Amino acid sequence: MSVSDFSLLPLPVIHFGAGLFAGIADLAAGFGRNILLVTGSSALQKSGRLSSLIDTLEKGGGRHFQVVVKSEPSPELVNEAVACYRDKSIDVVLAVGGGSVLDAGKAVSAMLLQDHPVERFIEGQPGFMPHDGRKVPFIAVPTTSGTGSEVTNNAVISSVGVSGYKRSLRHAAFVPDIALLDPELMLTVPPELTAAAGMDACTQLLEAYLSPFSNSYTDAIALSGLEHFTRSFMPVCTDRAGDSSARGDIAYAALMSGIALANAGLGIVHGFASSIGGLFEIPHGTLCATLLAEATRENIGQLRIADPGHPALVKYARAGELLAGRTFSDVKAGCDGLVGLLEEWQELLRFPRLGTYGITGPDIGQIVNLTRSKSNPVQLDDSSMYRIFASRL
Ligand SMILES: [Fe+2]
Repeated sequence: MSVSDFSLLPLPVIHFGAGLFAGIADLAAGFGRNILLVTGSSALQKSGRLSSLIDTLEKGGGRHFQVVVKSEPSPELVNEAVACYRDKSIDVVLAVGGGSVLDAGKAVSAMLLQDHPVERFIEGQPGFMPHDGRKVPFIAVPTTSGTGSEVTNNAVISSVGVSGYKRSLRHAAFVPDIALLDPELMLTVPPELTAAAGMDACTQLLEAYLSPFSNSYTDAIALSGLEHFTRSFMPVCTDRAGDSSARGDIAYAALMSGIALANAGLGIVHGFASSIGGLFEIPHGTLCATLLAEATRENIGQLRIADPGHPALVKYARAGELLAGRTFSDVKAGCDGLVGLLEEWQELLRFPRLGTYGITGPDIGQIVNLTRSKSNPVQLDDSSMYRIFASRL
């Protein structure tokens, strides 16, 4: 098959390897001495890594400031951080944490040189104005393996409430300047978070691979990610949580998912994530984990109705073979094998149902109304979306 046209976003300078976090202070100092640290509320402190990072920064003559992120970033959090540190001549923002911490850091780095509040630059918000790309350099160090935010051009901002939203601040310039992935930082991530974050990465790999905007490059990236993911996902969720090689596989899969999604887009599961995210407080990874099997089943069913020879079905079957680590007799068996495997993970790892987060039957209509199919391989109507959602209530 010939290579179709494509364009690619820039990538950060990527450092990947166990133990590399020891060199992060030197990488940050390369941008200047005023460093704004963005971290989560506890894990980095408990491990002692935060104090040793600060010691190293200070010994090198650096000045550090700190923003602590306790939940998914809101416009208020970003605006307050910018108001606090705008006049501190910040040379680099260094975010060390999970997806929320990385997105918060990315948004703060994007807003420190701007005069308007962040709401003006969030996609789909009233009074939206395009960002000009001026930002403070940004370094992303993920401590969980999921969102791929360390390589993407967007930061997801959430405002939860009756008229809430979960939308992106986006510009090619927001791709981090440096991404450092050290699997040793992930060794103590608890099992539920490991599973949910991992399923976010898996969903992103599958959705980007199946996207109508995928290309030969993003396909290669997504398949490589899926190959590493399937080798180590169950092990890191069960008996090899403390194995840095297995953690490295999932960190690599998440990294690949970020590159793939930034360049190919995402499907219906992330469409739901966007619409629900503004209405209910449900962790992003958990939402992906609980919806992926059902969404895949519905997509495959609708593709079969639209065109039994649809090339997306061949891709689903290939993903099924890769994830299951075996060959199937034909495309149909491969597609069914993929759904079966995703359901198996769903049961084994006990992904929570949506009702756990207070979502009830009457909420589904509003959620479906707000949900867009995004870069899904097939356009889903409201009844399809309803079926996916209702089956996981
Ligand atoms: Fe995601």
